Amino acid sequence: MESTVEVLRPIQTRCSCRRYDPKPVHRELLEAVLESGRRAPSGKNLQPWHFYAVVNSEKNKEIGRKIQPILEEKVPQLKGKAEHIGVSNTLFYDSPVVIYITVKKDGLSTKYIDLGIAIENMMLQAEALGLCTLPAAMPQWFGSEIITKELGIPDSEEFVISLSLGYQHPSFEKKPTQREPLEKVVTFIE
Ligand SMILES: Cc1cc2nc3c(=O)[nH]c(=O)nc-3n(C[C@H](O)[C@H](O)[C@H](O)COP(=O)(O)O)c2cc1C
Repeated sequence: MESTVEVLRPIQTRCSCRRYDPKPVHRELLEAVLESGRRAPSGKNLQPWHFYAVVNSEKNKEIGRKIQPILEEKVPQLKGKAEHIGVSNTLFYDSPVVIYITVKKDGLSTKYIDLGIAIENMMLQAEALGLCTLPAAMPQWFGSEIITKELGIPDSEEFVISLSLGYQHPSFEKKPTQREPLEKVVTFIE
């Protein structure tokens, strides 16, 4: 049986991108990606998210560089990785665009699920448009305060995750990652 329909192809082809071409992302494409995030379903349709789309790549690099020493102190095995890949930081990997995603602090317990759906919608839309992405929790783990301050995120919101967005660098090799087999993650109950 043909296992995909056209709209689902990006689920199979997407993979995380950790090196980007500096080429900027056209505003129309970025808006299409954000629109797919906005269309995500959410508990009680509360839409608890806000997307801070920073299109100034120097600003993204500056934020990444500020967090990098904290990251390297906490995760010493990442020391030297940025230089090795040829990027300024291993938070955003020098993507030209970073979408910083926040959630309203006073939402339902489903609010993080809502964000997960929104970010996946954006990743799949990006993939369908020939762009690539990296969702990253490390900016939140190690740089939440820095990001909140740099972007002027209000007290009513919590920064949760970033989404790097751009074109894949010519030297970056797209490698599909492994998943557990279906029989290991599914229990059929009749
Ligand atoms: C919620 C979440 C947080 C992640 N955080 C990071 C991160 O901080 N840094 C990173 O390099 N990759 C991060 N990743 C990417 C995962 O490592 C990646 O999705 C996983 O290894 C599967 O690979 P694939 O995306 O290429 O299929 C994150 C992914 C998710 C879904």
